[in-house]
Amino acid sequence: MTDVEHAQLAPFTTFGVSAVCERLITVGTVDELREALRRYPDARILGGGSNILVTQNVEHPVIRVALRGIALDDLRVTAAAGERWHDLVTWCVDQDLGGLENLALIPGTVGAAPMQNIGAYGVEQEQCFVQLTAVHRQTLEEVVFTKDQCHFGYRTSIFKEEARDQYVITSVTCQLTDHPHRLHTSYKDVAEELLQHHAPLTIRDVYEAVVAIRRRKLPDPAEIGNAGSFFKNPVVDAETFSRIHSQHPEVPSYPQADGTVKLPAAWLIDQCGWKGARHGAAGVHDRQALVLVNHGGATGAEILSLALEIRSSVQAHFDVELHPEVNIW
Ligand code: EPU
Repeated sequence: MTDVEHAQLAPFTTFGVSAVCERLITVGTVDELREALRRYPDARILGGGSNILVTQNVEHPVIRVALRGIALDDLRVTAAAGERWHDLVTWCVDQDLGGLENLALIPGTVGAAPMQNIGAYGVEQEQCFVQLTAVHRQTLEEVVFTKDQCHFGYRTSIFKEEARDQYVITSVTCQLTDHPHRLHTSYKDVAEELLQHHAPLTIRDVYEAVVAIRRRKLPDPAEIGNAGSFFKNPVVDAETFSRIHSQHPEVPSYPQADGTVKLPAAWLIDQCGWKGARHGAAGVHDRQALVLVNHGGATGAEILSLALEIRSSVQAHFDVELHPEVNIW
């Protein structure tokens, strides 16, 4: 365990904005995590820092979860919360085991993944999720959450809702498959990317297609600060959808089972003319309007103010409210 006073958080978040926390405690084992939680019950928890925008100095201790290890038991893989998500995906593909390949290159750690039920290219984490372990912040006991107990939804789980701030996730177990015919290739971008491939497709083909798409469309946080999609895709009622559709018949849409319709926030933001916009060092990515970027030296407050402007503009143009996917500190 390391414990550093007045630590700079910029290297530990993918937006790379400057902010100092009261102290930064890095834990490498579950016992160290328990000890840190006992010492600093008001600490905030940091995983890979890829879904967070720090807008001011943090007047709290911050615990960084750096638990490591990946183990396979039959077709179930268990990874410690501090492993990089993409490393776990790559590890599974290297064993020729499928299930996670559509989720390649999603930044962040294993422990953060179920918090918001990460998803991409037609697959959400919940589809292969078996269970996770988590330490309760008060009792310090390690407990198991099964899939049903996680209350997964679109970019959400019990850990963002009813049980918010009550647990620290320590490991995640996923069900893998060795059947290549269970590949998910119908998402438009993936299908297009794989058009040139000859059957039979392998798990690695899908992994490589997703990596290529993401490299082309999304900025690499190592080169330009960002936290992936800044907003969630809004879900609107049928009436709102038909109003927008009558004015913009080309609007992409994803009908939901309950009659509501999910709209791509990227499209709404793009229609309002934000793609590639810059406010000082804060900007909107020029290839994906849903991704806000730090061109270098932006403050968290500047990025937040840009996000608020985008939200107001989408509200004014479409009467649709956007909600951030990113956590604001
Ligand atoms: N579009 C635009 N303008 C843009 C970008 C996209 O009009 O600048 C349109 C596209 O043409 C497409 C639609 O918007 O019709 C959707 O775009 P895309 O397929 O790129 O996906 P998205 O809905 O913007 C979601 C996830 C991403 C995930 C992709 C691929 C959310 C909030 N975002 O984005 O997840 O990688 O699908 O599955 O659900 C993340 O959560 O950080 C993230 C990157």
